Amino acid sequence: MRRAVVTGASSGIGEATVRALVADGWSVTALARREDRLAALSDELGDACDYRVCDITDEDSTSAAVAAIEKTGGAKALINCAGGALGKDPVATADLDDWRSMYELNVLGTLRITQKLLPVLKRAAGGGTVLFISSTAGIEPYEGGGGYCASKFAERVMARVLRLEQIGEPVRIVDISPGMVRTEEFSLKRFHGDAERAASVYDGVPDPLEAEDIAECVRWALDQPDTVDVDSIVVRPRAEGSYTKVFRR
Ligand SMILES: NC(=O)c1ccc[n+]([C@@H]2O[C@H](COP(=O)([O-])OP(=O)(O)OC[C@H]3O[C@@H](n4cnc5c(N)ncnc54)[C@H](OP(=O)(O)O)[C@@H]3O)[C@@H](O)[C@H]2O)c1
Repeated sequence: MRRAVVTGASSGIGEATVRALVADGWSVTALARREDRLAALSDELGDACDYRVCDITDEDSTSAAVAAIEKTGGAKALINCAGGALGKDPVATADLDDWRSMYELNVLGTLRITQKLLPVLKRAAGGGTVLFISSTAGIEPYEGGGGYCASKFAERVMARVLRLEQIGEPVRIVDISPGMVRTEEFSLKRFHGDAERAASVYDGVPDPLEAEDIAECVRWALDQPDTVDVDSIVVRPRAEGSYTKVFRR
């Protein structure tokens, strides 16, 4: 059975991706820090979904997760979903700790797990895939998004450079850049728990994307023949032309 490793699997896009891949016949190892949520997901999905508590900003935690994956048959795909935004302050007054946390998670955390799993993925029958869930924030910067956009630009560059460097190797590198996706926790965390401000992000927007829409992009990209690399998918709700051009009722 093909095995995928999904980071950020305890909520939102990562959790939806686990469900979509299991439904498509993959066996999935779900990674995140919150064990209760991972255990509930694994209980629900049965044998096709195991999990491992893993903090991708921590060297030992990530090494242990990768060693366990290698010991239990390796993997064919890594889906980098763990990530997030913190704050929406102007560059002039932004909180250095917010920027540092986003860089540690979105850039260095993603790099850490990717580096460790890459050799394992390349040994998979037919070759492996590293898939990044970056963001349109990595394509178009916006006011207040300095720190998040910088980290997502970096993540997209990592994907692109890795793609170039791995030419000729048995691995596909895929970047999926979503626009507005309404997930339960993303904006809540961005605004440090301010539920009203988080809800206002989606105010009046007819049909923002849902986590399942991104999971379907992941499923489809992985489902292409091993020699077909879907380099990049940019996906937004119909109502969003750019971060600053959103239709609201
Ligand atoms: N929602 C959007 O509008 C949107 C748009 C474009 C791109 N994205 C990107 O899509 C990805 C998923 O976003 P989402 O909306 O699904 O948000 P989410 O529900 O907040 O998911 C973030 C996930 O990352 C995990 N995580 C956080 N810190 C971690 C760490 N140190 N180690 C391992 N896992 C960690 C969280 O689990 P634990 O807390 O349990 O560790 C959680 O499962 C992010 O990279 C985000 O930037 C989101």
